Amino acid sequence: MEIQIQGCTITDAHALAVNNMTAFFADPTWRLTWLNPQTGHFKPLSAIIQTTTERMPWKMLQSRDRNRHTKAVSTQTGELVGYARWILPSTPTKSGDAVWPEAQVPEITDPVLRQELEDRCKNADWQPREDTHELDDELYKRNQMHKSKNDYMILDFLAVHPSHSRKGIATKLVQRGVDIARKLEADIYLLAFEQGLNVYKRLGFRMIDHMIQDDSPYGGEGKFGRYFFEMEVPKTEKQVQGLDQDQNQDQDQSQEQGQQ
Ligand SMILES: CC(C)(COP(=O)(O)OP(=O)(O)OC[C@H]1O[C@@H](n2cnc3c(N)ncnc32)[C@H](O)[C@@H]1OP(=O)(O)O)[C@@H](O)C(=O)NCCC(=O)NCCS
Repeated sequence: MEIQIQGCTITDAHALAVNNMTAFFADPTWRLTWLNPQTGHFKPLSAIIQTTTERMPWKMLQSRDRNRHTKAVSTQTGELVGYARWILPSTPTKSGDAVWPEAQVPEITDPVLRQELEDRCKNADWQPREDTHELDDELYKRNQMHKSKNDYMILDFLAVHPSHSRKGIATKLVQRGVDIARKLEADIYLLAFEQGLNVYKRLGFRMIDHMIQDDSPYGGEGKFGRYFFEMEVPKTEKQVQGLDQDQNQDQDQSQEQGQQ
C-alpha cells in the first residue's frame, strides 16, 4: 500500500480515534482497561472511539513545543491508516528554532473555540477501570526510571488500523521519527507492546528491559508484557558535550518536578 506521512491537525480527531482505538482494542492486555469486572463485559469499541474523539482535539493542542503528531494516509483513498506521536528531546527545542514543524499541530488561538475544546475533553465519558493499578504502577515506575536516564526523543504512541496491518505502515512511521532523531542526534526511547516487537527490532532498536506481569486476576490471559527499547544514534563530538551539559540541567529540573 502506498502511503504518505503527514502532520496532524485537530480535524483528524475522529479518524485518529477510529484508527488508534481499533488498533489498541485488538491488544488483549490493553483491552482489559475497558473490562467491567462486575459484568464481565467490555465497554463497546464504538463508545471508546466516541469518547476519544471528544478528548482528542484538546489533547493534541497540549505540549506543542515538544509533541509531534504524524499520520499515515493512503495515497489512493486518503484514508488515515496509522499514527505516531513523538516527544522531542528538550535540548534542541531550547534554541527556539522550530523543530520538525510539519508535525506540530497548528495552534488554535480563538479563546471561545479553545474553551469549547477543553470542555469537550473534560466532559468526555473516559472512565477506564481503576482496579488494575497494581499493574500500571509497577510499569509507570520502571518506565520513568528508564526515560529519565537520557534526554531522549520518545516514541509515545504508535497505532496502525488492523485492516492495514503487516503492510509496513508502522515501520515507515517509526522510520520517519528515527530520521529526525538522527538529525537532532538524540537517542530514542520507547515502551513496546508485544505486537510492536518485530517493528522495532528490525529497525535496529535494542531491548534494554522487559516486564511480564500476571494479568489473570484482572481477566487477562496471564501475560501482560511490556518491553523497553532504546536506539542510540551517532553523535558528533560537539553535540555530545552540549547534550551532556543541558541534559544534566534537565534531569535536575525533572527531579524537582517529580518531588512536587
Ligand atoms: C504494532 C503495530 C503498530 C504494527 O503495525 P504494522 O503496520 O502492522 O507493522 P509493520 O507492517 O510495519 O510491521 C509488521 C510487524 O508488525 C507486527 N505485527 C503487526 N500486526 C500484528 C498482529 N496483529 N499480531 C502480531 N504482530 C503483528 C509483526 O511483528 C510484523 O512483523 P513480521 O511481519 O516480521 O511478523 C500494529 O499492529 C498496532 O497498532 N497494534 C496495536 C497497538 C500497538 O501494539 N501499538 C504499538 C505499541 S508498541
